[in-house]
Amino acid sequence: MDGNRVLLIVSGGIAAYKVLELIRRLRERGVAVRCILTRAGSEFVTPLSLSAITEDKVYGELFSLTDEAEMGHIQLSRDADLVVVAPASADILAKMAAGLADDLATTALLATDKPVMAAPAMNVRMWEHSATQANIATLAARGVTFVGPDEGDMACGEYGFGRMSEPAAILAAVEQHFAAAQGQLAGVRALVTSGPTHEPIDPVRFIGNRSSGRQGHAIAAALARLGAETVLVSGPTHQPDPNGVQVVSVQTAQDMLNACEDALPVDVAVCAAAVADWRVAAAADQKIKKKDGSTPPTLSFVENPDILKTLSNAGNKRPALVIGFAAETEKVVANATAKRRRKGCDWIVANDVSPGTGTFGGERNAVHVIDAEGAEDWPAMSKGSVADRLAQRIATALAKDAAE
Ligand code: CTP
Repeated sequence: MDGNRVLLIVSGGIAAYKVLELIRRLRERGVAVRCILTRAGSEFVTPLSLSAITEDKVYGELFSLTDEAEMGHIQLSRDADLVVVAPASADILAKMAAGLADDLATTALLATDKPVMAAPAMNVRMWEHSATQANIATLAARGVTFVGPDEGDMACGEYGFGRMSEPAAILAAVEQHFAAAQGQLAGVRALVTSGPTHEPIDPVRFIGNRSSGRQGHAIAAALARLGAETVLVSGPTHQPDPNGVQVVSVQTAQDMLNACEDALPVDVAVCAAAVADWRVAAAADQKIKKKDGSTPPTLSFVENPDILKTLSNAGNKRPALVIGFAAETEKVVANATAKRRRKGCDWIVANDVSPGTGTFGGERNAVHVIDAEGAEDWPAMSKGSVADRLAQRIATALAKDAAE
């Protein structure tokens, strides 16, 4: 489970204290846990204890200006791999079934595109009520999974079903969920390029670009989470090495190509790097000195190898699926469609990098995924969510290939 992220929604119920144990166990296994605490939940467990145990901020208010500035509620709901509602009260389950969004927790639940798991906790009569059972059936039909509730003595003095499952049982369900997700790309080898390249002018100067490597690193992390054996060939970035990924650090486009060719054979290659198109024809061995009165040096360039094109045309070494990125400032879909053909890759993920979009170096991305069938427009989402969705699309495509 190492490297996975859980958004834990704590609603009202005496069982809320048990989530502290759940969080501790998840964190021991390398899972990052972020909490949303409902108003009712805060009657049973304090934001301070949740914050101390998650070592993260606890979110509570939908209209908190500070929270929205740091992380919008939509992003909060998407930046997790799994949303867990524990305890899930009769009230929050009813709101989920009805699609209500009147606080941060229910808004996040309505906005999320991630799997949702709920651990109901309520009085036995409330659990058995046909309204609750109808809500459970509705939610289950929409793909929400349930852990418990268990049978036993209740805090209210009654006996029956309605007790929240023990933290160990919820933990096991979460583990099972991630194991199933992990299996999707088991046995698949993936190659991802990321970041800029630095092309030397002399030993101290280089030509580079503003790529942060965020998108490429997030894709490598997402593929690894689905179980792919992933090699990330990266130019110089400030991104931490993703968990479970083999990182090969390079400087120049030529180094990047060499490292990619060394990584073959792979089943899927995702070229997200912003490779410099040109390099200085003859980089100086020594630092170029400025001399009084002399004219500034003139640089002449030669073209760099095109890594995406090379991988797309690698004959019997060609990965089954080759994916490129297109950074465009105008006619985004039309230009990217032409680029897909020119490069010979299977899919192009096109993004608009015109000034003002904040894509380059930013957190968010609105992309179009172009394949032989046409263009699919994705709504603006975090680069992490683009990565997850792309990894899922890759898993589906490879599974389809294998079935044919
Ligand atoms: N790419 C690559 N090697 C290069 C140049 C680009 O692998 N030498 C890959 C990028 O990683 C990206 C795709 O090609 O996946 C598109 O890159 P982009 O810079 O948008 O396109 P260019 O081919 O450079 O075309 P143009 O500059 O005309 O937009």
